[in-house]
Amino acid sequence: MRKCFYIGILGFLIVFFASTIPCYSEETARQRIIDEKVMKFLDKMKNRWRDLNVPEADGKILYEIIVQSKYQKALEVGTSTGHSAIWMAWALSKTGGKLVTIEIDEGRYRQALANFKEAGLSEYIDARLADAHQLVNELLGPFDFVFIDADKDWYTNYAKALVPKLETGGCIAAHNVEEPEPLHRGGYRMGTDEYYKYMKSLPGFKTSIHPQSRADVSVSYKKRKGK
Ligand SMILES: C[S@@+](CC[C@H](N)C(=O)[O-])C[C@H]1O[C@@H](n2cnc3c(N)ncnc32)[C@H](O)[C@@H]1O
Repeated sequence: MRKCFYIGILGFLIVFFASTIPCYSEETARQRIIDEKVMKFLDKMKNRWRDLNVPEADGKILYEIIVQSKYQKALEVGTSTGHSAIWMAWALSKTGGKLVTIEIDEGRYRQALANFKEAGLSEYIDARLADAHQLVNELLGPFDFVFIDADKDWYTNYAKALVPKLETGGCIAAHNVEEPEPLHRGGYRMGTDEYYKYMKSLPGFKTSIHPQSRADVSVSYKKRKGK
């Protein structure tokens, strides 16, 4: 009697696990197709990004942050022709997420759409042709990952609009941000210095410059309670 019971359980477990194999392998095959298409596109475009796009190293940083933290609700301010968006959307294809990205320049927006299609990532990207000054206020969120890479003198305003829409444990990354230097007077750095100081001043956030970034990516994590 007891023997029959164990054989029954064993049979059930074999059937159960066998039935999950096709789902698992379908998903793996699907992801492999996406990976191959994205890698082929990124390889073709290597050293050919000309529209203020992030360097490859920074794209990889964004990718890793999203995959490691399993972020799913991402927003980018400043699409250009889509290099950073492609790295983020690729990561989101693995976490089951989606990216909203905003660009004000129509020519760059259209080129970005074409690039997303060629990279096989269109279904993971909601690209908007809009003025982000306005749209970031209108988007409801919530987001768990935000990448700011548009007009530097507006970075602090973007942050003020987006901080309340970021989930606990989420991250706001921003491009071309360095540790402010006391004697710095240049117009270009003004906005990003102000942004960095603002993010540092927020008690609910932990802000630093990402140690692996070449073109200065700051990361601000919204702390969980008690941390
Ligand atoms: C540095 S580029 C972004 C590069 C992009 N993240 C990439 O790696 O491919 C900045 C972009 O922000 C866009 N931009 C500037 N002001 C904007 C605004 N108010 N709303 C939306 N986009 C804006 C510019 O047109 C430009 O294409």
